[in-house]
Amino acid sequence: MSASNEINQAQQAWMDGVLTQVEQALSDWVAPTAPERLDEAMRYAVLDGGKRLRPLLVFAAAQAVGAQKDCPATLRAACAVELIHAYSLVHDDMPCMDNDVLRRGKPTVHVKFGQAQALLAGDALQALAFELLTPTEDVVDATTQAKLCRLLAMSAGCHGMAGGQAIDLANVGQHLNLDQLKHMHKLKTGALLQASVMMGAACVPQGQTVSEQAQLALQHYGEALGVAFQVVDDILDVTADTATLGKTAGKDAQDNKPTFVSLMGLEKSSLYANQLLEQALSALDQSGLAQTEALRSLAHMVVNRIM
Ligand code: IPE
Ligand code: IPE
Ligand code: MG
Ligand code: MG
Ligand code: MG
Repeated sequence: MSASNEINQAQQAWMDGVLTQVEQALSDWVAPTAPERLDEAMRYAVLDGGKRLRPLLVFAAAQAVGAQKDCPATLRAACAVELIHAYSLVHDDMPCMDNDVLRRGKPTVHVKFGQAQALLAGDALQALAFELLTPTEDVVDATTQAKLCRLLAMSAGCHGMAGGQAIDLANVGQHLNLDQLKHMHKLKTGALLQASVMMGAACVPQGQTVSEQAQLALQHYGEALGVAFQVVDDILDVTADTATLGKTAGKDAQDNKPTFVSLMGLEKSSLYANQLLEQALSALDQSGLAQTEALRSLAHMVVNRIM
């Protein structure tokens, strides 16, 4: 992701710290004991790549509500949401969906391991996400476990990512109006990003609560940021090259997908992404939360990114 000029050295150091922690945890947790080939496919899908935006959002929201840096719930939530994301990419790339051969600069999972392993790796990553949220060791209290599971399930299922993907596939070659397009993006991409924020907020230290005002503000922030993310993904599909993206550029137009760019063109799409950035930042202004710098930086990064 591009470091926009809004990100200072302290923020960068914070992000680097989170990324190191998440990378290590994913490597430890992703399927060392899975059957042969499936373990490889799962690790291939998750490790060595990806911007890890969703884990960063979890940590940033957790920080905003006062969670400690080493809070076990936060790390588990961050990894769980990344596993759901990785699974969604594996399935999104399969021939029955977007039929893509390149992801994170590598051949896609089905190209490398075959369709059956790709399907199973996705299934198993989804299950593993919920396993991480419900540890047998006494490190996350039961109420928080349940909250995290519900937030993640709601955002991944038919009213979230999977539902949005269904709308996406049903509308290849169709014209969607702005509201329909926003709805699709809100589900297929926005839901998981918003859930990342709310899962971070659910990591509030025991005995403390997040005010209704802050909860609502974080929801608005997550919603605006989530749609902005997909608007920029649509823009980059047109403006960036394959090497930079690590996935095949120009694929949306080639597949006749309804996107923000196909509906309103590049310039208006970019204006819209910036409006959403303003909305996300102003939601934080209304939150009453003291520590929102990381959330702010991430919002800028989402909109100003080059990959
Ligand atoms: C790509 O997500 C898929 C969408 C939801 C648009 P990212 O751009 O976050 O992908 P990685 O994780 O960095 O590879
Ligand atoms: C996919 O959207 C969103 C997911 C739920 C995986 P895209 O199909 O636009 O994502 P990319 O461009 O392949 O990463
Ligand atoms: Mg797709
Ligand atoms: Mg795709
Ligand atoms: Mg895309």
